[in-house]
Amino acid sequence: MLDKIKGYIEETASFKAESLEQLENFRIHWLGRKGVLKDLFEDFKTVPKELKRDVGQAVNELRSHLEATIVKQKEAFDGQGQESLNLEDYTRPSGFELGSKHPVSVVRREILDIFSQIGFKVAEGPEIEDDWHVFSGLNFPPEHPARDMQDTFFIEKDPDILLRTHTSSVQVRTMTDSEPPMRIVMPGRVFRNEAISARSHCIFHQIEGLYIDEDVSFADLKQTLMYFAKEFFGKSKIRLRPSYFPFTEPSAEMDVYWGLNSETDYRITKGTGWLEILGCGMVDPNVLEASNIDSKKYSGFAFGMGIERIAMLRYQIDDIRLLFENDVRFLQQFKSI
Ligand code: DAH
Repeated sequence: MLDKIKGYIEETASFKAESLEQLENFRIHWLGRKGVLKDLFEDFKTVPKELKRDVGQAVNELRSHLEATIVKQKEAFDGQGQESLNLEDYTRPSGFELGSKHPVSVVRREILDIFSQIGFKVAEGPEIEDDWHVFSGLNFPPEHPARDMQDTFFIEKDPDILLRTHTSSVQVRTMTDSEPPMRIVMPGRVFRNEAISARSHCIFHQIEGLYIDEDVSFADLKQTLMYFAKEFFGKSKIRLRPSYFPFTEPSAEMDVYWGLNSETDYRITKGTGWLEILGCGMVDPNVLEASNIDSKKYSGFAFGMGIERIAMLRYQIDDIRLLFENDVRFLQQFKSI
């Protein structure tokens, strides 16, 4: 494996992209979701213990080399673009730093792309909502203790106007505004009246999914989530643990098998090897009926995942606050993604 990695470094040392498109193809080939580096990380697991250190170093060296090549050549192209626009006619600060995509945006885009490949369309809804769309339409009766699961920022009382605590509210909007079949993913920002800590924030992002048609079963839910886990994490071993949400029955939470080979694996899976990713379940017939969908004819599944949490797992970020502080020293680390 060491020779193979050395070979890769030599092979790419003289790479010179002739266009931005070529550079992007280079990036996808080496660093993309299904790229060479991803395969190397998979192979790494089977490397004998005594070689792990050397091979690990070599893989990291290859990655840094590829990232540096891409950043350097990208800067050269960006420079060219500016010259052709005659920007020297304008005054601008010298040594202007290139920006980079925020990890939350990168992960959101990737998740939406994965679901769009199997026919899910994107829908969005308002952040300021009423009680019906956030709670009552989702089978949370007034005074129901489940409302305490999500501490709410109220804007007005009677009638209640509030900041949505989850993107499940967009499910209700879609169900009341359109006819089945529907297959949608709903990204958005949500708000909870919670103390800010390394693990939770009062603002974060979710992606909700909803599929309603005739004869949708729990097996469809499981297959869809397995496909997602395989595409996003490169791993397809999932498990569903029974859980409770007022709007789904049965309800579950999904874990992806991450592995338990290294100290990091141990840390991020709290010693279990499994990672919790999302809540899901079969849409409760009460929820369908509340939105005037015939629950005898139609059934469906729903799921909801937190984008920050998934970004934290992907990039091994151990404090959610880093994702909100916009510290360039943190953000610059994501230049090559
Ligand atoms: N809305 C839930 C939350 O924010 C997540 C969730 C769970 C969404 C189950 C769903 C679902 O659509 O079926 O905690």
